[in-house]
Amino acid sequence: GHFAIAIDGPAASGKSTLARELAQRLGLVMVNSGAMYRAVTWQVMQAGVDPENPAAVAEALEHMVLDCGVDGLDSTLTINGVDPGEALRSSEVNAHVSQVSAVPEVRRKLVELQRSYLDHSDVVMEGRDIGTAVFPETPYKIYVDADPAVRQERRCAAGEVDSVSDRDRRDSQRQTDPLRVADGARVLDNSGHTVESAVEEALVILRE
Ligand code: CDP
Repeated sequence: GHFAIAIDGPAASGKSTLARELAQRLGLVMVNSGAMYRAVTWQVMQAGVDPENPAAVAEALEHMVLDCGVDGLDSTLTINGVDPGEALRSSEVNAHVSQVSAVPEVRRKLVELQRSYLDHSDVVMEGRDIGTAVFPETPYKIYVDADPAVRQERRCAAGEVDSVSDRDRRDSQRQTDPLRVADGARVLDNSGHTVESAVEEALVILRE
């Protein structure tokens, strides 16, 4: 069977960069589960549905066709036939993605899609609940953390409007699979790391 490396952590902790580099070094497909939650949020807003209304979000989800695939070592995603591209990182999506992600029906649907990647390939998957809920059985779990001020600064430097602390609070306090360190996960503090040294530490952790 195929295996997964689970990379979890709070907003702007450097998970994506680390996951992408690891995937490249190890020749594995990289899957950004946050992009799936962002795509659903984007579509909710395109449809004019209130992202703060869980019942309305669950109903809107019934009319969404998510298609997740692989192109080389990259994962691909369309929603109702459209690749939202840069719109996934808009300030509107940043502001509402945590509320949409807290809807249990949304999580059920996306976790199923995330698991289905293992039917075809080994993956590095990053998110909030990959080690706790999506692939709790994997021995390869890293929780990437970084100082909150460093994380907010990174996000602003990237030119994004995003309240990192708001999302962290919502992501850690929701009922279904909140953000936490998974059983068996090793914590990697990314605050003082360069990309290269973080990758080296992750490779050491994975080989242990
Ligand atoms: O950009 P950043 O790495 O901070 O976040 P992301 O990975 O793109 O995820 C965006 C949002 O999606 C998070 O704030 C969570 O609300 C949600 N998410 C989730 O609930 N579960 C996941 N496995 C991944 C993301």
